[in-house]
Amino acid sequence: MSAVIEFQNISKIYGEQKVIDSLNLEIADGEFVTVIGSSGCGKTTLLKMINGLITQTSGDVVVHGKNIKDMDMIQLRRNIGYAIQGSVLFPHLTVEQNIAYVPNLLNKREKEKTRRAVKKWMEIVGLEEELLSRYPSELSGGQQQRVGIARALAASPDILLMDEPFGAVDEITRKQLQDELKKIHQKTKITILFVTHDITEAMKLGTRVLVMDRGTILQYDSPERIQQQPATEFVRRLIGG
Ligand SMILES: Nc1ncnc2c1ncn2[C@@H]1O[C@H](COP(=O)(O)OP(=O)(O)OP(=O)(O)O)[C@@H](O)[C@H]1O
Ligand SMILES: [Mg+2]
Repeated sequence: MSAVIEFQNISKIYGEQKVIDSLNLEIADGEFVTVIGSSGCGKTTLLKMINGLITQTSGDVVVHGKNIKDMDMIQLRRNIGYAIQGSVLFPHLTVEQNIAYVPNLLNKREKEKTRRAVKKWMEIVGLEEELLSRYPSELSGGQQQRVGIARALAASPDILLMDEPFGAVDEITRKQLQDELKKIHQKTKITILFVTHDITEAMKLGTRVLVMDRGTILQYDSPERIQQQPATEFVRRLIGG
């Protein structure tokens, strides 16, 4: 399998603090990578370096074989969906306009097709159709989060970055969203990076689990292998062994 995302000797320094330390990682096409580690260990930083929202201090990030330093950021981000905790919706656009934003940019003429797609994604993430004409400020936190997920998916990205996307939803909805996301991944074979604090979620969803600690990778393996052979004491405790 070919690598879709490569981190080559990446470091990130803020002031005096090295938050990512000489990190090397290859993510193969179609993996569902769950990223777990203590608060502040560098998960969000790692994710944001893939779509250029954060620039590394040294090293290279390579996406689809291209060094992102040499890429146009708009072009790069067009194929990378990004869903994060908390609302990042356009406040002046309705739910429908938010989800349709990228599809509309890509195929201006096919309004009806986009409308159907928006409805499909609303259903998948469990949102009532009546919410389509509301503005983000008129939604609950969990609803906003689901609109964010629908918007990220509606853009048909080939890489999807998700930073604790299910943080603000209840247990039942969370379980539904996990199952849906797993199905979407199996169907579309997009590459997903998914940050979570929940080890059960990480082991359930990931085809690979990335365990981080203080800016380094402790283990990057299938859930089965992590279960059988935790690389360090930290990993063993994390999985409750
Ligand atoms: N703009 C910034 N300036 C200085 N330090 C920063 C900045 N952004 C992040 N950091 C620091 O870098 C480290 C990594 O942050 P990051 O957001 O990647 O952590 P995280 O693993 O996502 O944590 P959490 O699980 O709490 O979201 C933290 O110590 C954080 O305080
Ligand atoms: Mg974070």
